[in-house]
Amino acid sequence: MTIFGVFRYAPEDGKARFVDYQLDVPRGTTVLDCLLKIKHEMDGSLSFRYSCRSAICGSCAMTIDGTNRLACKTQVSTLGRVVKVEPLTGYPVIKDLIVDMDLFWRQYTSIKPYLIYRSSPPEGEWTQSPEERRILEEPSTCIMCGACSSSCPVIWTDERYLGPAALLKVWRFVADSRDEAEEERLGMINNEFGVWRCHTIFRCVDSCPKEINPTEAIEHLRRAAVRHSIRGLFRRK
Ligand code: FES
Repeated sequence: MTIFGVFRYAPEDGKARFVDYQLDVPRGTTVLDCLLKIKHEMDGSLSFRYSCRSAICGSCAMTIDGTNRLACKTQVSTLGRVVKVEPLTGYPVIKDLIVDMDLFWRQYTSIKPYLIYRSSPPEGEWTQSPEERRILEEPSTCIMCGACSSSCPVIWTDERYLGPAALLKVWRFVADSRDEAEEERLGMINNEFGVWRCHTIFRCVDSCPKEINPTEAIEHLRRAAVRHSIRGLFRRK
């Protein structure tokens, strides 16, 4: 028998509390399976997001036993007998385990998350060497679940900080051999609300369900920003 202590918040009465649900959990059961069982068999008012059930869409990110994880990827057998389930930290709670991700998406769209090129794209395929593609492998794996940015204490104190997810995405395009907006992109992050605001706490690394290292991406961007600034100094002389 496993006890799930699930965070409940109803906007109608504004009250937040934990409610315990006891479940028999066979091997191979995920936290999302258990939440669905609770919803379908015990309490239909429980609200949470999910879609793919395959660790692809990112919508089931939540805090499980104090760590941000995907509910559909987290096996209950890896947790203790009492499991605490809460909404992602740092975002306003709409209901139960559902948070308002507006800040996350504003940060994401502000960095222009698409290829920018001034010259004409080639006709047909736009090829890259295996090495050029390899650099993009890790940042392209991001499923935008928000687990990293939600776990970052710097964002909790100042939402003007872009945060690990948006900065990882900037690196994904700066590193892309097809992108021609390096100067513009480094201008976006070479400031007090960009890469220099990261305190290298590594919570983003610990919480990423895809084992991506956003802190390393921020380090790459810092080096690129410094190189770019030095090049600018020499150009002025
Ligand atoms: Fe899509 Fe969990 S439901 S990532």
